[in-house]
Amino acid sequence: MKALKSKIIRDKSGEEQIAEIGMLGGKHEFSQTQDLHQLVVDSLGPDEKEFLLPKSESYFQKMFKGEAGYTIGVKINDQLVAKSVITLPKSGDLENGLEGIRTPVENDKIAVFESDVVHPDWRGLGLNKWMTAYREQVARDLGKTNVLSQIYYNNIANIHAHMKNGMQIIDAIYYPEDNAPIFYLNGNLYSVEENWDCGRHGISIISIDAGFDEFRELIDQGLIGINVEARNIIFCCQRQMAYQRSA
Ligand SMILES: CC(C)(COP(=O)(O)OP(=O)(O)OC[C@H]1O[C@@H](n2cnc3c(N)ncnc32)[C@H](O)[C@@H]1OP(=O)(O)O)[C@@H](O)C(=O)NCCC(=O)NCCS
Repeated sequence: MKALKSKIIRDKSGEEQIAEIGMLGGKHEFSQTQDLHQLVVDSLGPDEKEFLLPKSESYFQKMFKGEAGYTIGVKINDQLVAKSVITLPKSGDLENGLEGIRTPVENDKIAVFESDVVHPDWRGLGLNKWMTAYREQVARDLGKTNVLSQIYYNNIANIHAHMKNGMQIIDAIYYPEDNAPIFYLNGNLYSVEENWDCGRHGISIISIDAGFDEFRELIDQGLIGINVEARNIIFCCQRQMAYQRSA
C-alpha cells in the first residue's frame, strides 16, 4: 500500500498508534483483505449475518485490478485493521446492482461504497469515517457527484455512521439475488441535502423494528430517511424530488 495519509490515533488502552490509509494492492494485501473480511463475517452474531456477506475471490480480484473499483485500507504496524470498497458503475452496466433503484443521477456519476469492515478491536475510533472521507475524495477526483451505499436494513450502527455523514435513505428494496431487505443511501459529494418539505407530508418517525415494508411504503409516498435517533429513522419529503425509479 502506498500510504497517502497517516494520523495518530489512540487505541482502546489509550496508547498512541500511527494509522496509515491508502489504496490496497499486491499479493500480501490481497490475502490480508480476504482474511479481515472473513474474520468480521465470522464475528457477526446470529442476528447480524446479513450485515456483511462473504465475498468471492473474484470480487476482490476485480477491485484489486481496478476493473470495477478500488479497495481502501487502514494499517497499523503493518496490520490491516480496516478495509472498504469503492465501486464505479457505468451507465447501462447490468452487473452493477443499480437497476431499478431510484438513483439521483446517471450511474456514471455515482460511486458505490460497500464492504465496510473494521476489525472488532479497532471500532469506534473513527476509522470507518476516515475511509469514507478518503473514498469521497477518490470519487470527486474521478468526476463523480454522488455516493450510494447499500446497507442491510437492520444494520443500525452502519445507518448511524452513514447518516452522520450526511447521507439519506432514498430507496428500500428486496435485493433481487437473495431477497435481502436493503436500504439505499445517497450522499451528494458537493452539498448536504437540507431542502426538506416537512409541511406537505409531515414527519414520520419509524422504528427499525416496525419491519421493512413500512419503510417501502413511505418511500413509495415520496419520503426519504433524513435522520436517525437510537432505533428510529426520521422520514420527511425533499422539495423538488428528483428521484425516479428507473425502468
Ligand atoms: C459499521 C462499522 C464499519 C463501523 O466502523 P467504525 O470504525 O467503528 O465506525 P466509526 O468509528 O468511524 O464511526 C462513525 C460514526 O458512526 C457511529 N457509530 C459507529 N458504530 C455505531 C454503533 N454501533 N451504534 C451507533 N452509532 C455508531 C459513530 O458514533 C460515529 O459517529 P460520530 O462521528 O458522530 O461519533 C463497523 O462497526 C463494522 O465493521 N461492523 C461489522 C461489519 C458491517 O456491518 N459492515 C457494514 C457492511 S456494509
